[in-house]
Amino acid sequence: MRIIFLGPPGSGKGTQAHLIANKYNIPNISTGTMLRQTLTRSTHKSYELHKNIMHTGDLVNDEFMVQLINTRINQNDCRNGFLLDGFPRTILQAKSMKQCKIFVNYIIEFFASDSVIIDRIAGRRIHVGSGRTYHIKFNPPRNYGLDDITGEILTTRKDDHEEVIRKRLSNYYQHTEPVLDYYREESKYKKMKYFSVDGNRDISKIYKELINIISS
Ligand code: AP5
Repeated sequence: MRIIFLGPPGSGKGTQAHLIANKYNIPNISTGTMLRQTLTRSTHKSYELHKNIMHTGDLVNDEFMVQLINTRINQNDCRNGFLLDGFPRTILQAKSMKQCKIFVNYIIEFFASDSVIIDRIAGRRIHVGSGRTYHIKFNPPRNYGLDDITGEILTTRKDDHEEVIRKRLSNYYQHTEPVLDYYREESKYKKMKYFSVDGNRDISKIYKELINIISS
């Protein structure tokens, strides 16, 4: 099973990606998490550049992203499927997948209102090592400020500030919405199925709908 989750920041892609990947036992490939993990560890000059781009809410360049994903998808654990969260985010990235003959079964778009997005992102806390995501009000950890599994300290993302969120949203509308149109069109002729999911609802309701979609 090969799935792509697309949607604006804070629409809940990452939260659902963890649940769905666990349920179907497929790797959860989040480009945002991969970047945060890789870039935090490295002091290489070009990586510093990518880190700054991320922190200001812009998109990391296509060439770097395509290379990162191709390497990851060619690993053995992806042979039986994967869930891509946050890739492709530009038309060039989408077309590069097609050129590399990486095909998917489901494209799932999450949508949510800007006010819901801002509330969610303002209260988000993350565990960098695993990419697990919490919310201080809507999805709190069992122990305040600590990851449920490792007990390690949760942090706030550097790009989770209102000014940067607005920039990320505007990048989404400019670069990623055309990708949605591209896949809506492709799904008319290919075996892939395209679904649009209301991300404004509770985590459990969205999860149930995703299970219905995937098992239909
Ligand atoms: P990335 O980490 O992918 O960020 P994003 O796409 O902006 O999405 P988010 O992680 O902000 O939101 P989400 O939809 O996953 O929401 P979540 O589930 O966490 O990318 C970061 C940066 O990396 C980009 O800006 C770019 O610079 C770079 N990058 C990444 N991929 C790239 C690419 N392909 N090309 C170029 N650059 C790339 O939920 C948010 C909060 O809400 C959490 O606190 C959660 O607990 C809570 N929540 C979730 N669902 C619900 C719900 N239903 N009800 C209530 N609360 C909820």
